[in-house]
Amino acid sequence: MHVNGTPYRTVWLGEEPGVVKIIDQRKLPFGFEIEELRSVDDIAMAIRDMHVRGAGCIGATAGYGMYLAALEASVGGDFDAIVRRRADQLIATRPTAVNLRWAVDRQLDAMATAEWEGEKLDFAERCAHDIADEDARSCRSIGEHGLDLIRRLVAEKKEGDTFNVLTHCNAGWLAFVDHGSATAPIYAAHAAGIPIHVWVDETRPRNQGARLTAWELGQEGVPHTVIADNVGGYLMQRGLVDLVITGTDRTTHTGDVANKIGTYLKALAARDNQVPFYVALPSSTFDWEISDGVRDIPIEERGGEEVSHLSGMSAEGEELEVRLTPESSPTANYAFDVTPARLVSGLITERGICEASAHAIQKLFPEKF
Ligand code: MRU
Repeated sequence: MHVNGTPYRTVWLGEEPGVVKIIDQRKLPFGFEIEELRSVDDIAMAIRDMHVRGAGCIGATAGYGMYLAALEASVGGDFDAIVRRRADQLIATRPTAVNLRWAVDRQLDAMATAEWEGEKLDFAERCAHDIADEDARSCRSIGEHGLDLIRRLVAEKKEGDTFNVLTHCNAGWLAFVDHGSATAPIYAAHAAGIPIHVWVDETRPRNQGARLTAWELGQEGVPHTVIADNVGGYLMQRGLVDLVITGTDRTTHTGDVANKIGTYLKALAARDNQVPFYVALPSSTFDWEISDGVRDIPIEERGGEEVSHLSGMSAEGEELEVRLTPESSPTANYAFDVTPARLVSGLITERGICEASAHAIQKLFPEKF
């Protein structure tokens, strides 16, 4: 998508050999900076410390990280052992988004089919590009299928009325390689001339909604309003939300959805108010092994300072971090929750829209079962 009118991806291979470039998302919305990553250690740090974040973007960055691992291994030593060690290092950076393991495994499989080291390196480079390109293509298709859904819902409204979508966190293009999952249908509807407006949950504690989703919608000229996290239920009761679309970091093959903390409460409010609650995801975000998401999806717990402190820009243009809580108060920081399939109206995938159920998911992706 666009930054000041120029198209960008979130992660790509630079012209200099062995250099991966990313948009450093910690700096947004106040600064736009490209960061260069030159080693697997750099990639692991960028994922762990959230220079890049969001399921698809983490996966694609790890894909490029595995190419850097192959480059490192090609210089000397036991190629397969080095690559395996680097794979484990990358997988350990964040636990919830399944795209990370998916991308690393795909790279290991690709390299395993090669016969000599030079070929392994070529395959790893090709595979990294394929992961990124497929992520972008899948998100574009999600946009097209989501647009069909929006058109159907718009048809139920008075002609010319604004169509209001609520989204949580950032499942925008910044969370992928391009287009986004939850935002792809929004961008498609906006491009189709549908009068769309987005309620953007701020998404404490890291404020990915307020900082990232608001920024990227603004860059694309999509009308939006940032709201505090607890406003959604009120808006739904007043008929001001026509559709909730979120992304997901891991969805079981039975339709349970892990997403940024607070998503479950939005799903409950949506159900109580008969507002459709859809989740958009590329198939790389399905976990084909786990059946009970509430019980078995690992939930990341992050440092308490994300809860006790807030960061932002002062009136003088200086980036500041301020304390919010009494020094002596403990904090807890659960980064994700799981919305059970029964609260999800449907899943928007690159192959189309389906019910959040094992049966419907199996019909769309029969080769996975
Ligand atoms: O902790 P993050 O920023 O990596 O969290 C991921 C998210 O932004 C959301 O949970 C998002 O809705 C799903 S990722 C496509």
